Amino acid sequence: MKYVTKPVAPTVPIPEEVVPTPVTCKMFEDIPTEYIPSIFDDVVELLVEEGDIKIWRAQEIIKTMQQRKEIAVPEDEMAELKPGFPCSYGKVILLGEHAVVYGTQAVAAPINLAMQAKVWSNANGVHLIIPRWGVEEKIQRGADHKYSIYKSLDMILEKLNLRDQGMKIEVVPHIPRAMGLGGSAALAVAIIRALDEHFELKLGEDEINKLAFESELLVHGSASGIDNTLATYGKFILYKKGDPPFMQEVTIKDRIPIVIGITGVESLTAKMVSGVRKAWEKNKSLYERIFSEIDELSGQAVKALEKNDLQQLGELMNVNQGLLNALQVSSQDLEVLIDIARRNGALGAKLTGAGGGGAMVAICPDCADRVALAMRKAGYKAMVTEIG
Ligand code: MEV
Repeated sequence: MKYVTKPVAPTVPIPEEVVPTPVTCKMFEDIPTEYIPSIFDDVVELLVEEGDIKIWRAQEIIKTMQQRKEIAVPEDEMAELKPGFPCSYGKVILLGEHAVVYGTQAVAAPINLAMQAKVWSNANGVHLIIPRWGVEEKIQRGADHKYSIYKSLDMILEKLNLRDQGMKIEVVPHIPRAMGLGGSAALAVAIIRALDEHFELKLGEDEINKLAFESELLVHGSASGIDNTLATYGKFILYKKGDPPFMQEVTIKDRIPIVIGITGVESLTAKMVSGVRKAWEKNKSLYERIFSEIDELSGQAVKALEKNDLQQLGELMNVNQGLLNALQVSSQDLEVLIDIARRNGALGAKLTGAGGGGAMVAICPDCADRVALAMRKAGYKAMVTEIG
């Protein structure tokens, strides 16, 4: 499988005379020299487009571009699965993220991006390897782990009474990291499934889901459980948190073509969720009104889906995006992608997941290729796929 790590492509050629050479040294300080020519034109173009040629703004653009460059996304979203490696699902939330943490309804669907893992016996210790992400780590018992994924693995092994076993765990991710597509939950589910298979634990789906939820709580601080539920069961559902959570399968007549636009800017769910929590703590009734509006939209969306009314679904998603803006979880890149999608014929477009970067989703029954192409031309990655 081919991975692309190309820098952002220029959209419009820049006339020679507007290239301001004198600012380049200061602008590109700290950037590896071999990277400069490929992003120079793009940075200048964006500055010219914004009509404000400032060094601080150039540095901001460069930082974003560097982050995007580092994120590898499968060029072909139907990435080949590794035979014999247990799997879990990635997801898109169509409506209801953030509010769902406060007990309202959300609608989410699995996508055909997966996370895979496999366990082998090993003489000593627990070794986690994720070659695609450059991860190779010995997981020390109870250590003060730097990354939440190591903490989560440590907890999972403890809960499954496998702390004394030697093993190598290999993860093959087909879901881009920190892009709002359920990567962390899918990682936990894939690892739990691989442990279950190797040690013949005979865990049921509900046990796998419950343990993955504990991992989500550890990784994000607070979580509704929607991501691990999608990662485990891979069903198109209306979801409400609880013990047990409420899950109603959404049945639709035809699969729905969607485009997932990827900002390439990593976003931490924990940070976004805690931002909303702080705002809610200061202004509870104001924020609860927004949550209850979102709840209403999710309920209406299920009715629209059942009637195959994609126009109405799109409308509801657009309104949901407005409310996510009110929660201040959108970002400049997300707004650009949403605007591109709507201008190119999408019936509805909104951020998906925690926001602040990550990804957006657009409903595109007749315009998926056009929307994806326009996103790619603007320098973003885009995936055309279907839900349902
Ligand atoms: C993240 O995919 C969805 C959030 O609503 C968090 C959660 O539900 O746990 C932002």
